[in-house]
Amino acid sequence: MPYLMGLDISTTSAKALLIDAETGQVIASHSTPQPISQPKPLWSEQNPADWWQGMAASIRAVTQAHPDKPIQAVGLSGQMHGLVLLDAAGYVLRPSILWNDGRTQAQCDAMTEQIGFERLIQLTGNRALTGFTAPKILWVREHEPDVYARVAHILLPKDYIRFMLSGDYAAEMSDAAGMSLLDVAQRRWSGEVLAALDIPESWLPTLYEGTQVTGTVNQAAAEATGLAAGTPIVGGGGDQAAGAVGVGAVEEGILSLAVGTSGVVFAPLERYAYEPQGRLHAFCHAAPNLWHFMGVMLSAAGSLQWYRDTLAADTPFDALVDEAAQAPIGSEGLYFLPYLTGERTPHPDPLARGGFIGLTSRHTRAHLTRAILEGVAFGLRDGFELIRASAPNIREVRVSGGGAKSALWRQILADVLDAPLVSVNTTEGAAYGAALLAGVGAGLYSDVQTACHTTITTSDATLPQRSADYAPHYATYRQLYPALKSLVMT
Ligand code: XUL
Repeated sequence: MPYLMGLDISTTSAKALLIDAETGQVIASHSTPQPISQPKPLWSEQNPADWWQGMAASIRAVTQAHPDKPIQAVGLSGQMHGLVLLDAAGYVLRPSILWNDGRTQAQCDAMTEQIGFERLIQLTGNRALTGFTAPKILWVREHEPDVYARVAHILLPKDYIRFMLSGDYAAEMSDAAGMSLLDVAQRRWSGEVLAALDIPESWLPTLYEGTQVTGTVNQAAAEATGLAAGTPIVGGGGDQAAGAVGVGAVEEGILSLAVGTSGVVFAPLERYAYEPQGRLHAFCHAAPNLWHFMGVMLSAAGSLQWYRDTLAADTPFDALVDEAAQAPIGSEGLYFLPYLTGERTPHPDPLARGGFIGLTSRHTRAHLTRAILEGVAFGLRDGFELIRASAPNIREVRVSGGGAKSALWRQILADVLDAPLVSVNTTEGAAYGAALLAGVGAGLYSDVQTACHTTITTSDATLPQRSADYAPHYATYRQLYPALKSLVMT
């Protein structure tokens, strides 16, 4: 029986997943936690050496536990946008600057000025955002000229793992699209953007599709991981695109709604399109000939986590959420703004701030909890509406992530979005999608859609029941950010 491995280098862990390609069944999974460093306000960094050490340990744990399961191919996924700088000999020059690092606003402003707001969005599908890769390169040029002088290669986090596995400097389209250096429509590096920013194209990795083989496991990596030397390594995808593959969102009309720490609405597209104000991300998908829109709420289940940790640490999550059913729709005039860590969609605003608005002494803990579930749903609807306006043929919304486990929250989401939600049988996220992409690269499935149809099934439809009752509350919610922006969010 053929087996596939999917790797995911996330911000919190290095994960290796083994699946059976015929049934899609998970055979083994191992995760190694990753340290993160925030040495200055707004800074967020990790050491690529820690990624590799953690990933090698995770792969070793899986290969040692299953020496009888021959692995046909390995696929990669990981946190997007991180900057890894290497010298000509392949040595890492400084810690990686991560997706959630906020030091580069001046560089974002400069590159927007240089290229032009509209042209930048047209070419790269996105505004210049502080977490994206290009402004970080400019930051290093300005602030660490000694480091900059030695740069010979630039990689993204998962592609550093690829480099350690095979020695190749390679990237694939979905993750490359998050660098603000790709011509997303043409799926090639943008000569125009590179020239405007004066970044040499020779520093950038070779581009592949997420389903293409980019190299094979070399001898040193085989010794470090227990993988067989010569095992093919496949492009894979950034964590969002690979996660979408992992729930089967690989056809126009099938959306993914992932309610994890962040909340992501992901819509595959058959043609490149961009939102003219850049309020949605437009990236390449991990499948060839597909693109996608994406709305990102930074604190979705993260808002509930903060609330519980801060105000109800002794109450189990399930009990806390069940209690919210005691409060009525609209939480009796109490609103929650989920912008606890700034926001991306629909307000690309690192200074956006959260809040409970409309508190009275009548409100109980049940109201506060319900206001959070509703506020997150309202914020996700903002992204959903932008997607509905730009990609109208939605036939199915596949919901996943920790937040989707609660029946009450799923119902609130279905009502607020006014869309039926279905669950999927897969729960391993980006690593699962990376394993499926590996299977396409190894020729076990004819394409990504077939890989998903072979392994992923849907169930548990949650139908909207009270959408009309939420409409006036959503209308009020929408007015809160504009009203408060100039008062408390500057
Ligand atoms: C996507 C994004 C995050 C990171 C970390 O645009 O910033 O999903 O990839 O998970």
